[in-house]
Amino acid sequence: MSFRIRKFEKGDFDTLWRIDQDCFDPQLAYSRPEMAFYMRRPGSFTLVAEGEGGEAGNGSLLAGSPGFVILGFIVAETRRKSGHIITIDVVAEARRTGVGSALLRAAEERLLRAGAGAVALETPVNNEAAIRFYKQKGYFVEKTAAGYYSGQLDALVMTKELARSPVG
Ligand SMILES: CC(C)(COP(=O)(O)OP(=O)(O)OC[C@H]1O[C@@H](n2cnc3c(N)ncnc32)[C@H](O)[C@@H]1OP(=O)(O)O)[C@@H](O)C(=O)NCCC(=O)NCCS
Repeated sequence: MSFRIRKFEKGDFDTLWRIDQDCFDPQLAYSRPEMAFYMRRPGSFTLVAEGEGGEAGNGSLLAGSPGFVILGFIVAETRRKSGHIITIDVVAEARRTGVGSALLRAAEERLLRAGAGAVALETPVNNEAAIRFYKQKGYFVEKTAAGYYSGQLDALVMTKELARSPVG
């Protein structure tokens, strides 16, 4: 699947919010105001992966979509001298095709340019796909944050040294 990474544009918001709703249980998915808050926070940026519509197989949500379709996005931020991944979401039909890798690499490059020496993120302890994905990208589990999600679900806090490890 061919795709490109670009900056967020205002008109993308509803699509990104719907993708987030599809990616996560209601307990974890952002409300619209929450997502807008994280995307607008000082130091925050959003990158979007966009592919040609109609490339996915029959029966896919992407099949027959005209023009470009959004395949995924990442929201990240710089906090003083460290980076933080707020969320990364790839539509189910486009997973395991490198979209998540490209989004994460682009965000890490931008964080590095902004002076971040390391990047941190939180992921639910039961999100095996995400944990495998992040480990494959060089992230290590630093600690468990008990009750991180609404006091009900623990998070793994994962980190990666950007300055020492190659971005990729
Ligand atoms: C996690 C997520 C972003 C990965 O995106 P993706 O586009 O599928 O990732 P990639 O295709 O770039 O995968 C790169 C590598 O990560 C690992 N990986 C990704 N998904 C995996 C899975 N479900 N199981 C095992 N390993 C996986 C693999 O090593 C993969 O390489 P391979 O396909 O050559 O084996 C995607 O599954 C997603 O959006 N999930 C729902 C939202 C979510 O949980 N986000 C994380 C929030 S903390």
